[in-house]
Amino acid sequence: MTLEIARTINQIREKVALKRNEGKTVALVPTMGSLHEGHLSLVRQAAEQADIVCVSLFVNPRQFGPDEDFDTYPREEEKDIAKLEKVGAHLLFAPTPEEIYPQGHSTSVDIGALGTILEGEHRPGFFTGVATVVTKLLLQVMPDKAIFGEKDYQQLMVIRKFVRDLNIPVEILSGETVREADGLALSSRNAYLSAEERKVAPFLHHFMQDIAKACSSGETQQARELLNKAPDLLKEAGFDKLDYLELRSSETLSQDHDNEENRRLLAAVWLGKTRLIDNIAIL
Ligand code: PAJ
Repeated sequence: MTLEIARTINQIREKVALKRNEGKTVALVPTMGSLHEGHLSLVRQAAEQADIVCVSLFVNPRQFGPDEDFDTYPREEEKDIAKLEKVGAHLLFAPTPEEIYPQGHSTSVDIGALGTILEGEHRPGFFTGVATVVTKLLLQVMPDKAIFGEKDYQQLMVIRKFVRDLNIPVEILSGETVREADGLALSSRNAYLSAEERKVAPFLHHFMQDIAKACSSGETQQARELLNKAPDLLKEAGFDKLDYLELRSSETLSQDHDNEENRRLLAAVWLGKTRLIDNIAIL
C-alpha cells in the first residue's frame, strides 16, 4: 500500500474519515521530519496499536526561540516519504506553516508550571509551542492513539498533562529511546555534529549511566559527587555549557526526592553549536 499525502486540514480530515467509515482505528505519530530510527520505531509501534498509521511532518515555528535553529533545522521530505513507505505508514500529514497558523492565529495552550522547569527554563515558550501544535494536530486528525518518544521525556509529560487537563479523547502512548550502538540517543539534530563532536557525544549517556548505577545501588554519596562535578567532567570530555543535569521525580519532574523509588535523570548540554538532551530511568 502506498503512502497517501495530505497537505491541508480538509484533506487529512477527509482521508481519516474514509478510514473510519471502514471501521478502522487510527494512531498518530507527530514529527518534525528528518526521520531516523527513533521516529520509525514509533511508527512500527503505532502499526501494532491501530489499523491506520498517520505520521505528521511539520517543523513547528512556534516551538523555536528567536535565536534557535528553525531556519537550519534539517528538512528532507523526499527521504522521509521513502522511509515512511518502507515502514508501512498509511497517511502523511505535511501541512505548510500558513495552513497551521493562518494570519491572525493567536490562541495558545499554556500548561503552567510543568512548562517552565528544565527544558522550559532554558527554552522559554518551547512547551507552549509544542502544546499548541500537538493540540491542533490531535484535533485535526482525531486519532484514537498518539505516540511520543521517551527521548523527550518532559515533552511526553507535558503532552499527557494537557491531554488530561483539556479532556482530549486520545490515548497517549510512549516509545523507548532508540540509541546508536555507542549510546548516543538518535536525534535529527545529531546531523549538526562535526566528526570530532560526534566522538565526544556518547560520553553524555555513559556519564548518566554511571550516575544512574550509583543511585540504584544505593551509593548516594558517589552519585551526588558525580552530579556536583558534572559541569567540570563534561567540560573535560569536550562539552560546552551544561544547561542542566538533574535527578527528578519521574512522575511530576519535581525536585521532591522523598519518592526515591521513581526517579529520572534528565540532561541538556551544549556540544559546539548542538544542544543534546537525554534522560534515563533510575532502576
Ligand atoms: P521530533 O523531534 O521530530 O520527534 C518526533 C517524535 O519522535 C517525538 O515523540 C520524539 O520524542 C520522538 N523521538 C525523537 N528521537 C527519538 C529517539 N531517539 N528514540 C525514540 N523516539 C524519539 O518532538 C518533536 O518532533 C516535536 O516537538 C513534536 C512533538 C512533533 C511537536 O512539534
